[in-house]
Amino acid sequence: MELTFVEKKLRQALSAKRYRHSVGVSQTAAELAERFDADIDRATVAGLLHDCARELPNKTLLKRAADSAIVVGSLEESSPVLLHAVVSARLAAEEYGVQDEAVLRAIALHTTGGAGMGKLDKIIFLADFIEPGRIFPGVDRLRDLADRNLDKAVLAAFDQTIRHLLDKGMVIHPASVAGRNELLLSLHDK
Ligand SMILES: [Fe+2]
Ligand SMILES: [Fe+2]
Repeated sequence: MELTFVEKKLRQALSAKRYRHSVGVSQTAAELAERFDADIDRATVAGLLHDCARELPNKTLLKRAADSAIVVGSLEESSPVLLHAVVSARLAAEEYGVQDEAVLRAIALHTTGGAGMGKLDKIIFLADFIEPGRIFPGVDRLRDLADRNLDKAVLAAFDQTIRHLLDKGMVIHPASVAGRNELLLSLHDK
């Protein structure tokens, strides 16, 4: 798989704004991988492709999920956009030629996070929050944490998302709660 092929194809699949976001996530993920001793090439590709299905219409997301035997829960049914993570992983494999399971898994986990996240999963999840184009209250604190401690930064990102969803009266994906609890407990043990 060649990076220029991926970049060209992705540029056609996404709006200019989301393409810029994807490049930002890719570069941030590469920096995090270097800082925390993960595979930089994997981080670069996963960052680039994490949102490759993000602009597909809901109908298409649901259809691709059904075609790939992806389990669609009631949360995903009411909010098909949640499926863009797993469908992006499928497209990365089928249309962009990514065969690396670790990359595909990091893409699939980037929206909700979940229990059992590995280093690359955490890096992509976090890079999606803190890439340079992101502006939201608290982002600088997350960037500061990300300079020093990957787990604490990911935990803060979970907390921030869950707090935001609570404030807005929105549903919280159980995978996010599971990911947050596991990380919190593992940090307590240290
Ligand atoms: Fe996304
Ligand atoms: Fe994203």
